[in-house]
Amino acid sequence: MAGALRKHLVSYFGEHHKLLEAEALQLLLTDRQPLALSRDLLTHAGDASPFVTREMVEAAQARRQAPVARVEAAVSGLAANANARRPAEPFELISEGFTGPPVATQPIAAYGALFQSRFRALARMLRGRPDLPNLRPIRALPASEGVCSVIGMVSGVRETPQRHHLILTVDDETGSLESLVPKDSPGTRVPFLSDEVVGLKLTFAKEPGRIPRVAHVERPDVPSTRPVGRSASARRAIFLSDLHVGSRSFLSDSWTHLAEFLRGHGPFPELAASIDYVVIAGDLVDGIGVYPRQERDLAIPDVVEQYAELGRRLAELPDRLTIVAIPGNHDAVSPAEPQPALPANLTFLLPPNVRTLANPSTFSLSGVVVEAYHGRSFDDLIPAIPKASYARPTEVMRRMLEMRHLAPIYGDRTPLAPLPRDGLVIDPAPDILVTGHAHTYGVDRYRGVLLLNASTWQAETEYQRMRNISPVPARAAVVDLSTLGLVTFDFSAGRPTVGGPEP
Ligand SMILES: [Fe+2]
Repeated sequence: MAGALRKHLVSYFGEHHKLLEAEALQLLLTDRQPLALSRDLLTHAGDASPFVTREMVEAAQARRQAPVARVEAAVSGLAANANARRPAEPFELISEGFTGPPVATQPIAAYGALFQSRFRALARMLRGRPDLPNLRPIRALPASEGVCSVIGMVSGVRETPQRHHLILTVDDETGSLESLVPKDSPGTRVPFLSDEVVGLKLTFAKEPGRIPRVAHVERPDVPSTRPVGRSASARRAIFLSDLHVGSRSFLSDSWTHLAEFLRGHGPFPELAASIDYVVIAGDLVDGIGVYPRQERDLAIPDVVEQYAELGRRLAELPDRLTIVAIPGNHDAVSPAEPQPALPANLTFLLPPNVRTLANPSTFSLSGVVVEAYHGRSFDDLIPAIPKASYARPTEVMRRMLEMRHLAPIYGDRTPLAPLPRDGLVIDPAPDILVTGHAHTYGVDRYRGVLLLNASTWQAETEYQRMRNISPVPARAAVVDLSTLGLVTFDFSAGRPTVGGPEP
């Protein structure tokens, strides 16, 4: 475990162009929350020095300590890093996407801060790549001749009328640039999406004023050589989504079979006993007023009662499990993403072994980094990506990892909250990316990352029939955290059966 964690940390800091000094690494390895601490370190490190020192780690540890704990430590004479020798926690929260209210009161300034945060976070990942030589801000590009690179956020794509080349417009913090992506060149293979951040290697013609050509497109992506986090023991996690408790279509019988399975009363008691975690990727309840005339589809028309029933259904699962739940677009929080975690006046209705987090959230389960996102942006990304569909959500998830962003498109169906930090940037790269929302089941792997779209516990609704979406309900992925091997269970026909796609 320590060896895997060491490699993971070195690689994570390397991706952010930082070198961990030996003593800093040692201190991180003995911390009880090494991944969350690393993320905090990178947030505060700045670009001035490429080194991360022991003193910087100590400062991050002090930042993390609550004021009360600091007072207690001072009174009892304990060292500032009193927790340094505690063992690593099996569940470790790394970051929540929701970071509090906007800092600016004017909408334009608030959204400006959000997009600046996105640009800076993703540009930091792209800087220093060998395929982006002679990197410059747009304002400092030459007028003619030579090869230069820029990093920009896509603000427009159009096709030339006769030859069907692409004219790509990107912005950075210094200006805006139009460039030409020749038809059928490698740069056109992956469609450009609004507001994604890309690196462009450009060639400039001899004649001043000619539009530069794009010779290469670089996306932030997941490093191909990244070590994948692994648990030291063969403990397991089960991934669920879109319960929609309170809907007339909630699959109560299938849920009962799931609970029986987890209690060891099904056909696989030993495997069930090795499951420590349940992850639920949003739409915990059906909500109210989410779509027109939803009340006809509700068995429980009161949203607080829906959460009370959710609490009762979750209490049917063994209380030894750590249940991690994020909200979705049907839950009773702001629909703009990132969404905050459920408020305390609803979570008190849930069993004490449920941790409710923001949508999205990044956390570690026994050393395996999980990014959980509900998946509302599928509604924008599926129409924008050729061949993508609700039946194959993992295609979209691959694209999210390439962009290192969960919901880049602004102004379409996914409302974006203008928070000061873009919590939809994927950082760190996860070992498992789990989503829901599509109500289908999909598993795949991309550059070592396990992609899971985690089914639903709601049968087909009238609304889905109208939109031609065929759900694949009552499937559950059980993942061995020591190998990332996966078994799919199907609870749709009663007692669970093993079967389903293999990634
Ligand atoms: Fe849903």
